Amino acid sequence: MPEHTVIAVPRESAPGETRVALTPDTVRRLVSDDVQLRVEGGAGLRASFSDDAYREAGALVVDGPEGLEDADVWLRVQPPRDREDLGRHEIDLMREGAVTLGFLRPAGGEELLDRLAQRRITALALELLPRITRAQRMDALSAMSTVAGYKAVVIAADTLGKIFPLLMTAAGTLAPAQVLVLGAGVAGLQAIATARRLGAVVEAFDVRPAVKEQIESLGATFVEAEEEAAEEEEGAREAAGGETAAGYAEQLSEREQEADRRLLARHVAKADVVITTALVPGKPAPLLITEDMVRGMRPGSTIVDLAAEAGGNCELTREGETVERHGVVIHGPVDLPARVPVHASQMYSKNLQALLGHLLVDGEIRIDLDDEITGAICVTHAGEVRYGR
Ligand code: NAI
Repeated sequence: MPEHTVIAVPRESAPGETRVALTPDTVRRLVSDDVQLRVEGGAGLRASFSDDAYREAGALVVDGPEGLEDADVWLRVQPPRDREDLGRHEIDLMREGAVTLGFLRPAGGEELLDRLAQRRITALALELLPRITRAQRMDALSAMSTVAGYKAVVIAADTLGKIFPLLMTAAGTLAPAQVLVLGAGVAGLQAIATARRLGAVVEAFDVRPAVKEQIESLGATFVEAEEEAAEEEEGAREAAGGETAAGYAEQLSEREQEADRRLLARHVAKADVVITTALVPGKPAPLLITEDMVRGMRPGSTIVDLAAEAGGNCELTREGETVERHGVVIHGPVDLPARVPVHASQMYSKNLQALLGHLLVDGEIRIDLDDEITGAICVTHAGEVRYGR
């Protein structure tokens, strides 16, 4: 039995990544007689956490990723990558049999998974955490969506040539901004709440009628089909089943999507800001805003499309870019959590702390593949790729 478990926190090397997997506060909570923390120098700097703060929290700060090589557990934000500056892949820095926790983008990541399996790494992918109550504190996707929903509104507010709240001034009355949020999951609900806090008038739409109450409790209006259109909609939805057992939306047929677009066109046309967050996990993002609908918007309006990475909810979205079409500014950001590094790292770190609490038994990591959480997120183990099997 090893004397203690060594947990490593490398400096994220992906371009544009500013987050760090553990904050000093979490380090302090994890360090014990059984658990040693090792942090690569500069790992937290872009998220405003100094090396001294990690030292004070009880971590050993090492120079470069080589100082982490004998670690038992690696905590990352982004998947390991090939490092030209080191002349090797980050997977090859890990000792055989080590455990790694982080986002791994397993879908479409066969090469990475093969490589992890060859090195006999036990890889746990946070994307695959089941959305169950027991795993809520570990749910890093939800945490990052919360940050993204907030930041999307801040970007829109910064782009728009109007202010958000109703203002009655000596120089006249300013009407509040009209914000439309499409998709009211984690990101959408946070976008609604943020836009409301800034004083906008907010409407929101989702294919799951169950979210109507949540939308209204935030002071927004739920966009619903009216009269005969509603009957057509309802019929279509019932046929689709609406919601999966995991609480996610079902993918809609082309006919249903067309009906939704007709319903939304009017609301899109009167919006100053549209925030889109609609997604069915594992599927391309549903097309909710066509070029014609953009053409129908007022010049100077703006769209922030959070589903850009999955193809976008707007036909004109360009992944990772900001474009202007028909007088409308369309943002397709893919890195919003990295633009709020302090709080995104703080939440992510808490998610990892909760997951480690689940995995550590008497100071040692136990991989129980029969466990509902561990079994779901473990993508490689003992030389085998488990993902998709
Ligand atoms: P979620 O699964 O909680 O919510 C998605 C919502 O979309 C659900 O409520 C679902 O019912 C709804 N939806 C599905 N199909 C729809 C349709 N046809 N019309 C209207 N609503 C529909 O997902 P979450 O966590 O809120 O994430 C939302 C999006 O934001 C995802 O695409 C995610 O990848 C993205 N995201 C983007 C980031 C960025 O930096 N751009 C950062 C974090 C998340």
